[in-house]
Amino acid sequence: MKNLYYYFGLGLLLCSCKSQIPQSANLYESRYSSLLEYPVDSLAFPRSMSVKTGIIHKVPSKDWTSGFFVGNLWQLYDLTGNKAYKEKAIQWNPFIEKEKHNGNTHDMGFKVYCSYGKGLALVPEKKAAYEKVIVESANTLITRFSPKVQAIRSWDFNKEVWTYPVIIDNMLNLELLFEASKITNDPKYRDIAIQHANTTLKNHFRADNSCYHVVDYDPQTGQPKTKMTHQGYNDDSSWARGQSWAIYGYTMAYRYTKDKAFLQQAEATANYFINNQNMPADGIPYWDFKDPSIPNAPRDVSAATCTASGLIELYGYTKNKTYLDYAKKVISTLSSTNYVIPATVKGPFILEHSTGNWPKNDEIDEPIVYGDYYFLEALLRLKAL
Ligand code: GLY
Repeated sequence: MKNLYYYFGLGLLLCSCKSQIPQSANLYESRYSSLLEYPVDSLAFPRSMSVKTGIIHKVPSKDWTSGFFVGNLWQLYDLTGNKAYKEKAIQWNPFIEKEKHNGNTHDMGFKVYCSYGKGLALVPEKKAAYEKVIVESANTLITRFSPKVQAIRSWDFNKEVWTYPVIIDNMLNLELLFEASKITNDPKYRDIAIQHANTTLKNHFRADNSCYHVVDYDPQTGQPKTKMTHQGYNDDSSWARGQSWAIYGYTMAYRYTKDKAFLQQAEATANYFINNQNMPADGIPYWDFKDPSIPNAPRDVSAATCTASGLIELYGYTKNKTYLDYAKKVISTLSSTNYVIPATVKGPFILEHSTGNWPKNDEIDEPIVYGDYYFLEALLRLKAL
């Protein structure tokens, strides 16, 4: 019954959008169940796939994307009420647990919070165990914090280029720290998250409120040395997903702090994003707003879904309908056969046309697991409005 209500509600929501869209429930049904068909394997988290060849890119738990697939199973349980998703999520979750000791990267939030964090509210019988994993992970993550820089170090690779790189994506990992403070009543995690958000606010943004991808700091002085890109078109371009991380990250940071400066940055970057002269009419951005090959550049659905989800939350704080309208437009655009993978294609993904790493020619215009994750989150957030 919960299923029927869900699809009926989604249908109403989509019909209320301006553009004409096909019936979406049938489109999604086979895609959703494809996640159940994917075999449980502790070493093979699905990350992306080629629709043309059917080859699935599988990764171990240490990959930054491992938590999204489990998060998708949790969110599908939440959306549909079908217990099969919950059972699968409970099977997959423990494969990520060992990452709580992995201090080699900042991606703890993506891995642990998108999996264990999504399960918290859905399985009361496992709440205490999941909270323990979240707190242990937070303890590992804060070992990467420098009081001098007042930020968490993002990456350890590329040491010949960077000394203390901090990337905009790192904002998303702060949610794990805010939650760890809520769970333990110990403010130390939250304090670090706030310092990191303030440092990023100071150094990552340009005058037009777009952001750099990477800021490299001098760990001795704590001052920024260079500002550049790693996944964007060039150092001065606007990598679309980077803008999404900023919008989502500062909206989330405002949720926990009520700091107006965080809200203002979220709004300013959201305005830059949705009003960008290179934003296509359907709301799905090109992978970088400044790729000179626009309009022939690939799109990035993951940037659209992450922004849409963030903007539904931002709408809640600002009541600015522009944000909600953008999110609805994205969901409406994606509810078509141009974006939903055909039912005949096997593979545990829902949406096509995300772009992972353009400079490395990797995962271009493909289904990618985090595009689906923020899509499902946006559906849940719309449903909750
Ligand atoms: N966090 C890496 C990426 O957005 O591709």
